[in-house]
Amino acid sequence: MSNQLQIQIDKASETMDGGFSDYYQNMVNYFHQNPDHNLSYSAFSNRTNRATNALVSEKEAIFYIVAYGWQHHQSMQYLLSQTIDVTSEPQENIRVVDYGCGQGVATLAFMDYLSQKGVAQQSSLEVHLIEPSKVSLDIAKLLIERLAKAYGMQVSIHCQERTLDNALIPLNSECKETFHLLSNVIDIETVQETLPSLAKQIMSCTGKNFLFATCPRYANAQTGFRILRQEMDFADNFYDECWDMTYQMYRVTQACWNQHTSTQRMAMMSWISS
Ligand SMILES: C[S@@+](CC[C@H](N)C(=O)[O-])C[C@H]1O[C@@H](n2cnc3c(N)ncnc32)[C@H](O)[C@@H]1O
Repeated sequence: MSNQLQIQIDKASETMDGGFSDYYQNMVNYFHQNPDHNLSYSAFSNRTNRATNALVSEKEAIFYIVAYGWQHHQSMQYLLSQTIDVTSEPQENIRVVDYGCGQGVATLAFMDYLSQKGVAQQSSLEVHLIEPSKVSLDIAKLLIERLAKAYGMQVSIHCQERTLDNALIPLNSECKETFHLLSNVIDIETVQETLPSLAKQIMSCTGKNFLFATCPRYANAQTGFRILRQEMDFADNFYDECWDMTYQMYRVTQACWNQHTSTQRMAMMSWISS
């Protein structure tokens, strides 16, 4: 079965000419047409502690993308569109660090955003993926490579299969701009515990830095945002808002496409380090 699911993921990743949305739709079609192969919401939720634990199989990875992928992608894109203008001074080399990247949805949203703005081919991306799940990390690498190929982008990918407390944060390179992505991880207690040391390290990341954090406005996430703001007091700019977002997405519990509305908290911080 795992092999069959790997083939499905591989096939779907070849269809990304129009971006992550193509992959998402392909996986939804597969999920909808193969109910016997899928996990139930309760089985997935109980095993993964509502998608916060590292995923252990392709079956879990497919469930995750179908249930949450579009929401996470759209939230990150919305935050980018509200806070930065990527067309003003496109850099030759850009570094992206995706913390707890899962299957790379935040990085894919960033790449889609560059493409939508017509600047995808103007920069070369140095992508750092940090994630404890091997299954998720392998899929993230595959999807980012395939999307880069579809958009004609130059991308180098550096994977760290580990939790954030053991991560090596890339601080120096040719890149004059770094985008730090924290998509739906700030509510996780072990991530929150590493925020103080993470903030100290990224403070001295050379060049211009932008940090983007999104999460539904749960109580746990509010704690994470509070710690983040407190530890990132060196940032020059803060944007921190809650938005009622409506997503047209597949609902795993209803087995159909539907509108889903959720309040998302979104933060962007920027700073320069010499
Ligand atoms: C809700 S998922 C978010 C994944 C991805 N960022 C997204 O937006 O789709 C939470 C992710 O955090 C990872 N994770 C859990 N604890 C972690 C830790 N201590 N350090 C790094 N990643 C962690 C999990 O393996 C999982 O991939």
